[in-house]
Amino acid sequence: MNKNIAILAGDGIGPEVTAEAVKALDAIAETFGYQFQYNDALIGAAAIDATGNPFPEATEESCKSADAILFGAIGDPKYDNDPNAKVRPEQGLLKMRKNLGLFANVRPVSSYDALLPISPLKENIIKGTDFVVFRELTGGIYFGEPRGRSEDGNTAFDSCVYSKSEIERIAHLAFKAAMNRRKKLTLVDKANVLATSRLWRETVKDLSSQYPEVELDFMFVDNAAMKIIQNPKDFDVVLTENMFGDIITDEASVISGSLGLLPSASLGLKSSLFEPIHGSYPQAAGKGIANPIGAILSAAMLLEYAFDLKEECQIIKDAVNSALNIGYGTEDIFPDEGKSTSEVGDFISQSIVNQYKTESV
Ligand code: IPM
Ligand code: MN
Repeated sequence: MNKNIAILAGDGIGPEVTAEAVKALDAIAETFGYQFQYNDALIGAAAIDATGNPFPEATEESCKSADAILFGAIGDPKYDNDPNAKVRPEQGLLKMRKNLGLFANVRPVSSYDALLPISPLKENIIKGTDFVVFRELTGGIYFGEPRGRSEDGNTAFDSCVYSKSEIERIAHLAFKAAMNRRKKLTLVDKANVLATSRLWRETVKDLSSQYPEVELDFMFVDNAAMKIIQNPKDFDVVLTENMFGDIITDEASVISGSLGLLPSASLGLKSSLFEPIHGSYPQAAGKGIANPIGAILSAAMLLEYAFDLKEECQIIKDAVNSALNIGYGTEDIFPDEGKSTSEVGDFISQSIVNQYKTESV
């Protein structure tokens, strides 16, 4: 197997955690005799500094010609606190999602037995949690027009817009995922208030006749935000629009133990991109304390979704578990004896190599 992977490390801790994800991919390549070629490209604040554009054309080309994209994080405080900034790093991420047609963001959420004690939630509530959120990624209030300011500057507006076809394409993926899991799909919306949510409900209900084995239910987002931490085991596949999905997955990371643990896949018809759900965490940049596991598990998802390498994906997940089980991790999850970002990455790639050796004898 010979594959090209575009590497968009981005800002803040992005480069540090991405380097550890690449180590995991290298460990797989070495073990199985695959060739992975990596092409680095600029995005975010790093790209603005170099080119003035947060998603330069050369980066877009590199993404389009790659077999998969591995992405780190985006964002820089120097733009966050400047309301007049003309370009922002986040625009690079949004433009990339839009231009590459990455409409479905898949965010798995599970609890880890080794981390149950560090969660602020009770062990008996979160133990055994295993659900996946399908977040629509190229529509809704993030992209709807019109948006902006009135002439006098005293009013601002954003528009939430969805078409039936945008809802259908991600709903099909969510139903299919449910068929391969526990066959339960929950649509999270705000249909008691929003017209777009009513279209989501109607469209998903219509599609459900094509998946008669899947049990479909509906939940308002405010209620879902409560239920996700009150009874997380009730969820199997959650389908939702762009902004609700953004919010409830940060919340859901509390079940796992740290925002730094959650990976994601952003899928389109031609491209697929893999990124941890966390941001650029600028306060931690360069300190070697960022948790690389979200990025490493994103590399695992890359192997499964982009290259159909299910066994190899599982090997990475098992290596992550073996690190967590012996208490080997960064300070966000093991505050008393936190290891550095690269120590954790080295440990995991070493156990990928070792694990396979043991399994194959
Ligand atoms: C995410 C991030 C982004 C989003 C930001 C950085 C624009 O929070 O990927 O979840 O809101 O989608
Ligand atoms: Mn987010």
